Amino acid sequence: MNNNKFILITIILVIILTITKSNSQTTSKEEFLSKINQYLLEDSLLINGDREYNVEEKQMIEQIYRDALKRIRNKIIDQSNTLQFNPPTYNQTVIDAFSSKTLLNPQQNLTYNPYDLQNLNTTLNDSVCGVLYPDENDRSTYYLVNYTSAEEAESSGAFVTHLHNCGYCSTTKDLAMYMFHFDLTSPIRDCAIVSFISYEVSLDCIQHSAGLTYNCAVIWLYDALNTRKDCLDICLYDWIMHVPNNVPANSTTLNPCIQCDEDKSGPVFKLVAGRTRRDSGLLSAINRPPNSIYNITHYYY
Ligand SMILES: *[C@@H]1O[C@H](CO)[C@@H](O)[C@H](O)[C@H]1NC(C)=O
Ligand SMILES: *[C@@H]1O[C@H](CO)[C@@H](O)[C@H](O)[C@H]1NC(C)=O
Ligand SMILES: *[C@@H]1O[C@H](CO)[C@@H](O)[C@H](O)[C@H]1NC(C)=O
Ligand SMILES: *[C@@H]1O[C@H](CO)[C@@H](O)[C@H](O)[C@H]1NC(C)=O
Ligand SMILES: *[C@@H]1O[C@H](CO)[C@@H](O)[C@H](O)[C@H]1NC(C)=O
Ligand SMILES: *[C@@H]1O[C@H](CO)[C@@H](O)[C@H](O)[C@H]1NC(C)=O
Ligand SMILES: *[C@@H]1O[C@H](CO)[C@@H](O)[C@H](O)[C@H]1NC(C)=O
Repeated sequence: MNNNKFILITIILVIILTITKSNSQTTSKEEFLSKINQYLLEDSLLINGDREYNVEEKQMIEQIYRDALKRIRNKIIDQSNTLQFNPPTYNQTVIDAFSSKTLLNPQQNLTYNPYDLQNLNTTLNDSVCGVLYPDENDRSTYYLVNYTSAEEAESSGAFVTHLHNCGYCSTTKDLAMYMFHFDLTSPIRDCAIVSFISYEVSLDCIQHSAGLTYNCAVIWLYDALNTRKDCLDICLYDWIMHVPNNVPANSTTLNPCIQCDEDKSGPVFKLVAGRTRRDSGLLSAINRPPNSIYNITHYYY
C-alpha cells in the first residue's frame, strides 16, 4: 500500500458520505452526526467487494477512515458552535452612557478582606442582577436588584445586567469599564505589585488605570493579593516567561497561573464582586469556552 492509495480511499469515503448526505436532503444535522457516530462504532469499516487486504493494511485503511470521520464530525460540531452566543463589542456612546449613571442603592463600603472569612458559602444560585430605572424616561439613575430569574427581572421592568446576584462590581460604571478595557487582568496585576508601597496606592492605581468604582477596585485588589499568596511560585514563572493567557494560544485552556487564580481566588471574587465578564456576556483577553459566556446584550443604556 502506498500513500496515493490511502488518499484515493479517503476521497472515495468522503464522496460516499457526501452522496449519503445529498441523497437525503431532509437529514438533520443531528441525524447526520449520529450516522457518523454509528460508522465510528462499526467493527469493520471496509466496504464489501473490495480486494483482500492483509491485517496491517486493513488496520491502516480503517485508521484513515476513522480519522476522516472524526474530522468530519468535529467540523460539523464546530459549525454549530459558531451559532452560539457571539458577544458584541460596545461603542463609546454606550460606554459613556453606562459610565455616567448614578446608583441609588449603593452597598456599604467593603471594609474587610472576604478572603479572611472562614466557611464562606461560595455556592452561586441562578439568580440574576437587574438594572431597574425608577423613571424609564430618564435613565440617569438606577437601582440594582436581585431577581430569582431573568423572567422575573423582565416582568418587573428591569434589565438583566449579569448572571448571579448583584455585588460590588455590578454598577453600570464597572460594566462600562469592563466594556472599555478588553484586558483588565494585566493592569490590575501591575497595581497589585505596587502594594508593597501601600494598599492605598494600589487602590488608587486600580481606580485610575481601570476606572473601576472604589468597592470593585477593593475586591479586585484582594483577589490579586490572594492569588499572589496562593499561586506565587506558579505565577512568577508565567509572568517572567510571558506565558500567554491560554496555552495553546487559541485554546480555552488557561495558563497555570490563571487556572490557579480561578481555583483559589475565583469563588470568593464571584460571590463578592457579583459581576464577571463572562456573566455579563463580554469577551476578554482570556479566551473562554463560548458556552460559558452568558447570553445577554447591554442596549438598555
Ligand atoms: C440569545 O438570546 C436571544 C434573546 O433571548 C435569543 O434570541 C438567541 O437565540 C440566544 N442565542 C443563543 C446562542 O442562545
Ligand atoms: C453605538 O451603538 C449603538 C447600539 O448599537 C447604536 O445605536 C449607535 O448608533 C452607535 N453609535 C455610534 C456613534 O456608532
Ligand atoms: C467609601 O470609601 C471611599 C474611599 O475611601 C470614600 O470616598 C467613600 O465616601 C466611602 N463611602 C461610604 C458610603 O462610606
Ligand atoms: C450554600 O448555599 C447554597 C445555595 O445558596 C445552598 O444550597 C447550600 O446548602 C449552602 N451550603 C452550605 C454548606 O451552607
Ligand atoms: C443581592 O444579593 C447579594 C448576595 O446575596 C447581597 O449581598 C446583596 O446585598 C443583594 N443586593 C441587593 C441590591 O439586594
Ligand atoms: C439566591 O440567593 C439569594 C440570596 O443569596 C436569595 O435571596 C434568592 O432567593 C436565591 N435565589 C434562588 C433562585 O434560589
Ligand atoms: C490562532 O488563530 C488565529 C486567527 O484565528 C490564526 O491566525 C493563528 O494561526 C492561530 N494560531 C494557532 C497557534 O493555531
